[in-house]
Amino acid sequence: KCLAVFASGTGSNFEAIVTACEQGKIPAETVALVCDKPSARVVERASRHGVKSFTFDPKSFASKVEMETVIADFLDENGVDLVCLAGYMRIISDTLLSRYDGKIINIHPSLLPAFPGARAVEQAMEYGVKVFGVTIHYVDRTVDGGRIIAQRAVPYEGNDIDELFGLIHAVEHELYPETIARLLSV
Ligand code: GRF
Repeated sequence: KCLAVFASGTGSNFEAIVTACEQGKIPAETVALVCDKPSARVVERASRHGVKSFTFDPKSFASKVEMETVIADFLDENGVDLVCLAGYMRIISDTLLSRYDGKIINIHPSLLPAFPGARAVEQAMEYGVKVFGVTIHYVDRTVDGGRIIAQRAVPYEGNDIDELFGLIHAVEHELYPETIARLLSV
């Protein structure tokens, strides 16, 4: 099976997925990184692992339809079976969703449906929750609202956001590869 990872930032989840593939823990190969920020750190990680990068500047396309058509064509050409969003900071819309229906999953740093959106961890901390967490879900036309595949709780009662991000990331780096492996083996 062939995976593509979409990411816009640091790429620690990208790294965890690629490494799990290399170690045979995920029965697949990461064939491509798709990245909308050519200067993101994740691009470096891809080249270090010999994973092809497809980077682009969203402003270079006339419309989102055109952008997603080009991305979907790229995925087709590379025989991608599953798309894993890992810190990809763009909403996926109809063009890509209809061509990769049921084949796009995302990782989100909260126990959905609580705290959807881009500032989930900060908002959960501001709210004062004592159990944070991570969710892997299918991507649909809603924001962070698709069917849940896996969740794991991260209990934390302190007030150091960096420490909390560290705990959440550690759980993400286990849960995402595990969940991908499980999805691919059914
Ligand atoms: C992760 O916390 C993920 O849950 C969220 O974006 C972050 C990406 O981190 N969607 P990284 O780039 O994989 O380190």
